[in-house]
Amino acid sequence: MAESYKTLLVDGAGPVRMVLVNRPAVLNALDSQVLQELGACFRALANDTDLRCVILSGAGEKAFVAGADIAAMSKLSPWQARAFAAAGHETAAAIEALPVPVIAAVNGFALGGGLELALCADFIYASAKAKLGFPEVGLGVIPGFGGTHRLATRVGIGRARELIYTGRLITAAEAATYGLANAVTEPEALLPTVQALAATIASKSPLGVAEAKRAMRISQGLPLERALVMEQELFAGLFATEDQKEGMAAFLEKRPPHFRGR
Ligand code: CAA
Repeated sequence: MAESYKTLLVDGAGPVRMVLVNRPAVLNALDSQVLQELGACFRALANDTDLRCVILSGAGEKAFVAGADIAAMSKLSPWQARAFAAAGHETAAAIEALPVPVIAAVNGFALGGGLELALCADFIYASAKAKLGFPEVGLGVIPGFGGTHRLATRVGIGRARELIYTGRLITAAEAATYGLANAVTEPEALLPTVQALAATIASKSPLGVAEAKRAMRISQGLPLERALVMEQELFAGLFATEDQKEGMAAFLEKRPPHFRGR
């Protein structure tokens, strides 16, 4: 892609893209520039019609993202802190709204704002050496980029309260038992594993995957009856696509499908 970023590495072309937060000297901490660039990057990716899956991770050996940048935050007034949180919310929304799936490959510390970013991905795969948590109350603040809501949605309100009130960091294995991470891999296996997963997603009907993501995302805020109506409409709409005709014809003709995303 043509854009260049100071705080991100964007790798790959075609169906799978890797986005790395790249400030390893500060464990990829999020300052205003990273938030702005990440938001811009995901908004640009949303317009890429060849894209099928994004992997979000952190540069360097130690961290996915160790949180919002504490040095930058330490001097903020309440007014500036509100704007900083709003910038975090905007970035989070851009990640969450990407039409194609986002996999967070949590390669090390995913703390505070870092875990909040990972929670905006569709799901998390974690390295066995990763540590995850919300240490904010130890700094005299609370999660500010959506963690109080998104963690509860993912792991349940009781576990979210415990993790946020204590600031306790959990291992990748514990994160998997909570349903916070889908799977744990050996550190060196993390990228190959998520790349294989992304390739599997990319091999499916692009419209099917995108509509599945849309259905699951919208239905989160809806009561069952309305979610079912919305699902029914998205299901029906797919029968107007070439992907549906190709997928079902390929099954009946006992051959692999060739999807074009239209
Ligand atoms: N902000 C700014 N700098 C950070 C940082 C952060 N969140 N996390 C790490 N760094 C910096 C350190 O200051 C250090 O810099 P120097 O080399 O210049 O001293 C460098 O990264 C390496 O870190 P450590 O030496 O601390 O590495 P460690 O292995 O001893 O410890 C760690 C690792 C446990 C992750 C520790 O760095 C740590 O506790 N970091 C802060 C984690 C945190 O509290 N995150 C939440 C931030 S608040 C937030 O995110 C609010 C929100 O929701 C919006």
